[in-house]
Amino acid sequence: MKKNLVVAIDGPAGAGKSTVAQLAAKELGYTYIDTGAMYRAVAWKTLQQGKPVTDELILSVVPDIDVDLQYTEGKTRVFVDGREVTGEIRTPEINKIVSQVARLGPVREKMVDLQRRMGERGAVLMDGRDIATHVLPNADVKIFLTASIEERARRRCKELQEKGYDVDIEGIKADIAARDKADSEREISPLIRAEDAVLLDTTGLGIEEVVAKILGMCR
Ligand code: DC
Repeated sequence: MKKNLVVAIDGPAGAGKSTVAQLAAKELGYTYIDTGAMYRAVAWKTLQQGKPVTDELILSVVPDIDVDLQYTEGKTRVFVDGREVTGEIRTPEINKIVSQVARLGPVREKMVDLQRRMGERGAVLMDGRDIATHVLPNADVKIFLTASIEERARRRCKELQEKGYDVDIEGIKADIAARDKADSEREISPLIRAEDAVLLDTTGLGIEEVVAKILGMCR
């Protein structure tokens, strides 16, 4: 087996990317890089400005933002300008604006640059929307992870309920559908399956089964 692989996992919201990627990275002894968290970090800083969210407001926070991911003991911690925001970036408020944030060229350029530098070292498992197509086109293993929209909505509901949010499944489904559409139809680096990516549909599969399939592809 080749050592220190670069593994790219892409797919739509709620496909289970971060859950399984985190576990697979731990098994392999690799660093896990959650690129969605980086776009969420930019969204978080935008909301901190306390003003109506416009493209101008988003772009105004980009030049000075310092986004840092620390992966320790199988968990990713996210920092913006030195402050930990790990929990605060996964809220309905952030979900609502993050596609608008991720659509903007200057935001993507800055994040992709950081992601490539993190990927260069190898022994990494990176997940997102454009990893196999754009960020790391030479990745050794490319996986496109997906699941039916019903299953993805159920998973997101559970995640938010566990955090104490009052959720309605139809609302979440509509939110995911809107995000799928925005992420797939945007001009820069849209969410598409790379030609050489393996399609892995996780509908009806348990977490362990998906992790085992990913590890199988890496061995
Ligand atoms: O995976 P996630 O839900 O945390 O991603 C948050 C948003 O960021 C989502 O709307 C898509 C966007 N994103 C992106 O455009 N490119 C990536 N590589 C990762 C995420």
